[in-house]
Order: sequence, then structure tokens, then C-alpha cells
Amino acid sequence: MITQSKNKPQTDVEFIPIYSDYVHTNSKPKTNKRSWYEYCMIICMILLVVGFLIKVGIMVHKNSLEEKNEVEMSTKGPVTRRDTSKPAACKKRVVGYYTEFESVDITKHQLSKLTHAVFAYAEMRYNGELKFKSEKSENRFMSLKNKAKSSRTDLKVMIGIGGYKNSDYFHNVTGDSAKKIIFINNIAAFLKKHEINGVDLYWKEAQESDKWKYIEFVRDLKNKLKEEERDGSPYLISLTIPPPNIANWEMAYDLEESLENVDFFNVYSMDYQGPWENQWGNPAGPIAQLYNTVEGRTQFSVDATMKYFVCKTKQPNKFNIAIPFFARLWRHVKEAVEPGKEVIRNVELKDNKAVGDAYLSRWTVEERKYKLSPATWDEESKISYIYKPETKTYLTFEDKKSIDAKIEYVNSMNLGGVWIWTVEMDDDQSSLLNMVSSTELCSAKSIDTVKHSCKRN
Ligand SMILES: *[C@@H]1O[C@H](CO)[C@@H](O)[C@H](O)[C@H]1NC(C)=O
Repeated sequence: MITQSKNKPQTDVEFIPIYSDYVHTNSKPKTNKRSWYEYCMIICMILLVVGFLIKVGIMVHKNSLEEKNEVEMSTKGPVTRRDTSKPAACKKRVVGYYTEFESVDITKHQLSKLTHAVFAYAEMRYNGELKFKSEKSENRFMSLKNKAKSSRTDLKVMIGIGGYKNSDYFHNVTGDSAKKIIFINNIAAFLKKHEINGVDLYWKEAQESDKWKYIEFVRDLKNKLKEEERDGSPYLISLTIPPPNIANWEMAYDLEESLENVDFFNVYSMDYQGPWENQWGNPAGPIAQLYNTVEGRTQFSVDATMKYFVCKTKQPNKFNIAIPFFARLWRHVKEAVEPGKEVIRNVELKDNKAVGDAYLSRWTVEERKYKLSPATWDEESKISYIYKPETKTYLTFEDKKSIDAKIEYVNSMNLGGVWIWTVEMDDDQSSLLNMVSSTELCSAKSIDTVKHSCKRN
């Protein structure tokens, strides 16, 4: 799926708090020379005790200074004035994914904009054991974990398991009671060891026949994590779930059964079109359009996807929609599929495949000098794109307008929030992330009332 990586210098521009001289000048107790000769032993004892007490006092003081520095730091960086409110105030979920294969640095500024950071993915082994895929992957996870810990206490860090090319063993492991126990114990041990907050599961391409195995596994996992819970803060479980009515992927889920064991769902409400090597490679269109009115493809939209889940569960607040941070380029793109629907266009297949770049990070876009403006805004799908007839290329991506439309949708439909694939694909200024974690999204009320029209037509 996404294999590119950028070798950026690993410079971390954020400064490490340095304790003021004030602390150091007080670090030694004053001594009295006359007393030294007369009452050496007694004074020595007293000095030891006093020294110890002062040291404890300094440590407490240092800690409070450190906290103060951290609060100040989190409001620095390239943020606008209205963003200086405490990030913890976001009432909707802003779930940011980080991948194990990228090299771009994870910054504290990014983390300050998220409510949940998910590391995608830990590797699940055939026997249910959990490990990192490589040393690089482990280092990257540690970097995320440590930056999250040193900057904010209310940011939830989660480990992702599954996804593309990582889901092969779910079927066998959840179907074998011994392996399932190993898997569950491994997850619990991982959360405990790293002191992180939860797990995100993405069993990609689960089959209908796997449905009960999945439900039972999530229930068993939940029970285990309840036992392990400390300090009254429960471990979180989230599931990434596929869009319905496209390839019958929804058949592998019975959400009503999982609702009480799952804290929230990241709905894969994107990739409705892509230059894939299969039948879905035609036509070209947006990555995550809010609405789609092209005949025969009305299910290929965020709205149709979310309506399905909300109407099934009546709990809109449990569901987050996707915001892709990547851009997508198609080649050999031709006329619109229907007159007036310029945003969805026919593609000339090469060797039966659509051709293009499915996942372009913003820094790749910059490197290749692709311009993202002026773009054509499609009011119906709420998406921007650039079609160039002379080169037959079609470039589509999220921008301020489309992100605002998604936020407006989340708020008006009482959805739980958004999830970002992936934070590190943003540009150096975190432009997209700053748009996402806006006041509009974060100040919205979270009421669990169904706003979708769930009556059958
Ligand atoms: C699952 O188990 C079956 C039966 O033991 C085995 O043949 C198959 O290779 C396993 N699948 C994977 C992906 O390991």
C-alpha cells in the first residue's frame, strides 16, 4: 500500500527544558565553620538530614518547573493565537495514525493537536505473539511514546494491530483458543510494559465466517483488559472497520454485539476510488467524497458509509470518519462519466490496470513540484481536484474547504470525531493537522442523538 519513505534529517527543533540557575544556587546547604570544629559529629548528622530534606524540596520544585515548561512548550511553535487554548479541550476525537515505516519526525506540536495517537502497526505472529517488525519500527514507536509522555498526560497512545499485510494470522489465532489466549495476554502485556492507553484492531478482509470469532475475541480481550486496569482508567479498544455495500466487507461484523466492548470505531470512509490493480481502478474520483450522486455509485461516499453504521447502532458518537492526509494522482484520465459530474472521470486502463500514485505525502507533492492550486471545487462531493486534459492527469487531495466540510458533517451528524491517515504525511508546517484540530471541531458538543435519516426509502 504505502511504501515510500523520506530520509529527512532527524533533527528535533523542540528544545529540552533547562532548569534555571535559581535552582542550582540553592542546591547546597550553608555550613557553619565554628560549629564544625566544636560539634563535628552532631552537625554532620544534622547537615545530612537537612541536606536530604533540601534535596527533596528541590526535586519537588524541579518537577513543578518541568510541568510549567511543558505547558508553555505545548503552546509554542507555529500555531495561531486561537490555538493556544489547552489542547485537552477538544470535545471530539482527533485520532492520528503514525506508521512504522516512515522516517519523518514525530513532533510534539503534532501530538498536542491529537486526542489519540495510534502507532500502526505492531506485528502479530502466527502463534499470537506480538512484536515489532524491525528495530526501526521499535525506535519509532518509542519516539512516539516518549514524546507523548513528556508533553501531555491526557493524550491517549494506542498500539495498532492488523492492517494491510498484517492481518493474515487473525483467522487462525482467533480460531484457536490457545493461540487466542497468547494473543490477548501479549496485548495486555504490551500495554502494561509501555504504559500506553489501548489497542486499535484492524482485521483487514475478515470474512463473514470470521464474524463470531472476531466478536468473541474482542469480548475476551475487553475482559482481560478490565482485569489489568489500574488507577481507574480503563484501557481503550478501538476497531477500524470497512465501508459497507462495496464488497460485502461489512458481513464480517456484527456491530451491535461489539458495541459495549469497543470504545470507538475508526470507519474506513475513504479509498472509494483509487488507481488500483483491479476492477475498482475505474473511474477516477476523490479519495473521500462526502456525497456521491453518480449513478450506481451512491454507496461510495462518507455519508452513505456513516449512515449505515449510525442507523445500525444508533450511537453516532462512537464513530470517527477518515481524513486522508495523502494526495492521489491518476494518469490516463479521460472524460467525465456523466455530463456535469466532472469530478468522476473515466480512466484508460493499461494492462487492465489503472495507473497512478495512490498515496502521495505532502512532502512528496512538494518535491515533485505539483501545484495544489488553483483547484476545482466540486460542490456536490465537497472535494477539490485538479484535472489537466493536456497531460490527462487527475490530482485529488484534502484542503481547507474539504476539511471544513467534513468537520461540519461530523458536528451536524453528532459523530465522534475524525481519524487521520497519516499525521506524518502532512507538510512541515502541519497545515492539514492545524485545519483539522480547529476550534469548530473541538468546541462542538458531543450529543449522541441520531441525525441521519434512518427510515428505509
Ligand atoms: C492457518 O492454519 C492452517 C491449518 O493449520 C494452515 O494450513 C494455514 O497455513 C494457516 N494460515 C496462516 C496464514 O498461517
